[in-house]
Amino acid sequence: MSQPPELFSEADILARVDELAAEISEDYGDKGGIVLVGVLKGAFIFLADLSRRLTIPRRIEFIAVSSYGDKSVSTGAVRLVMDVRGSIEDRHVVIVEDIVDTGHTLSYLIGVLESHRPASIRTCALLCKADAVEVDVEIDYVGFNIGDEWVVGYGLDYAERDRTLPYIGTVEPDDR
Ligand code: PRP
Repeated sequence: MSQPPELFSEADILARVDELAAEISEDYGDKGGIVLVGVLKGAFIFLADLSRRLTIPRRIEFIAVSSYGDKSVSTGAVRLVMDVRGSIEDRHVVIVEDIVDTGHTLSYLIGVLESHRPASIRTCALLCKADAVEVDVEIDYVGFNIGDEWVVGYGLDYAERDRTLPYIGTVEPDDR
């Protein structure tokens, strides 16, 4: 089976993760630390690399939603599967996503997390399909803006395939 063609190499990704970690560390340096909330499953590798590069105190939480299933088109319907376990009340929260496509998931998650009364919420996505975003949602930290291609690897899957590729590749419609 052939490997997906490369969009971002492992070196490209890690260099950008370094930059994002430095930016976040600087922004929160005087705030006593943050809680990173990783969105399962796709964000787990990005979260692991980003969190280890921060130079500020950080705590890790996970949240899980269900939206796409194995389909390649978002229905816009998002359902909470698992909420954060620890308290985020009065804490500075950064939601960590692998990709923002339509924005429905991130918008929904901001609402869920706001109900826990954090001190603040910001958002960080490794990839953003800027032209596809359908809802008004602010992404404070973006790794790379991409076009309408379907991407896999570095946590991202297509029907659970290619999630652990070390780089980000594209899947052609014929391969889906
Ligand atoms: C992906 C991605 C985001 C969401 C973005 O998750 O990880 O959570 O879709 O899409 P949106 O902006 O259109 O809402 P997916 O449903 O593929 O689940 P997974 O992370 O478990 O693979």
